[in-house]
Amino acid sequence: MPLNRRHLLGIEDLDPVEIELILKTGESFREISARPIKKVPALRGKTIINLFFEPSTRTRSSFEIAAKRLSADTVNFSHSSSSALKGETIIDTVKNLQSMAPDALVVRHPASGIPLVLSKHVKCCVINAGDGMHEHPTQALLDMMTIREHKQKLKGLKVAIIGDIRHSRVARSNIYGLTKMGAKVWLCGPPTLLPREFEQFDVRLTWDIREALEKADVAIMLRIQLERQGENFFPSVKEYFDRFGLDRDKLRLAKPDVLVMHPGPINRGVEISSEVADGEFSVILEQVANGIAVRMALLYLLLLPGASTQVVWD
Ligand code: CP
Repeated sequence: MPLNRRHLLGIEDLDPVEIELILKTGESFREISARPIKKVPALRGKTIINLFFEPSTRTRSSFEIAAKRLSADTVNFSHSSSSALKGETIIDTVKNLQSMAPDALVVRHPASGIPLVLSKHVKCCVINAGDGMHEHPTQALLDMMTIREHKQKLKGLKVAIIGDIRHSRVARSNIYGLTKMGAKVWLCGPPTLLPREFEQFDVRLTWDIREALEKADVAIMLRIQLERQGENFFPSVKEYFDRFGLDRDKLRLAKPDVLVMHPGPINRGVEISSEVADGEFSVILEQVANGIAVRMALLYLLLLPGASTQVVWD
């Protein structure tokens, strides 16, 4: 079954069958990264431009590696060394890049909705790599893939998303994805970072981390996004960590086989202790590894819409 869409702008747009297709395809691509020669010819002749207007370590590198493992050509556009600094608008920038005949633009931007706007000005695929506080769809896909790898399912699992929900595009994409796939999602954070508008989703809200962690299958800890906070949302880092930071004592409330996740970058000692981030329940680096497979799957499904998903390359 093909993925019948040109762009990936958010998880809100996807239905469970499409999410299942992307996850299954990603799972089949995972073994390519374990080969001595980590390359297959699927996207030979395709060109992918990474257009990042915000810093990134994981997302940008893994989109580039994913494209290269599929034999596509990649170009990394860096805002700080581009003509955007001479006053060129983002629409003019993408129209000029479109003239170079790319097959996909992977876009990260501090303003919500920019990937959607750009998708109306180009012929190629647009993939949202994180837009403002709106969505980070590939992060949610790799998170779901990591949970499935360990739990073999998503349906019925208690997933606690804890921290700066208000400013988090990761939280929004995971709320859409996990609820569509049947997980029971709990949101937890101080009232200033967990506004009541989140009650519109099919989730439970709590300001008590103990209630969120009680018999949880998965704890997704979110970074405190100081760069998006124009005011003080909590009295001090110490008080935040005492009430909402994940440490060994609080983690004991969760199921004995709980998964500890974090999209990165981590603020150690703020939302999570180093002991837990590096401990036996942490799958944080597995999330990063799965980011390659899921982004390979997405590039493959969007750029080769007629291709079979039952592919084996030698
Ligand atoms: N998770 C994530 O988006 O990390 P980067 O900002 O490093 O890409």
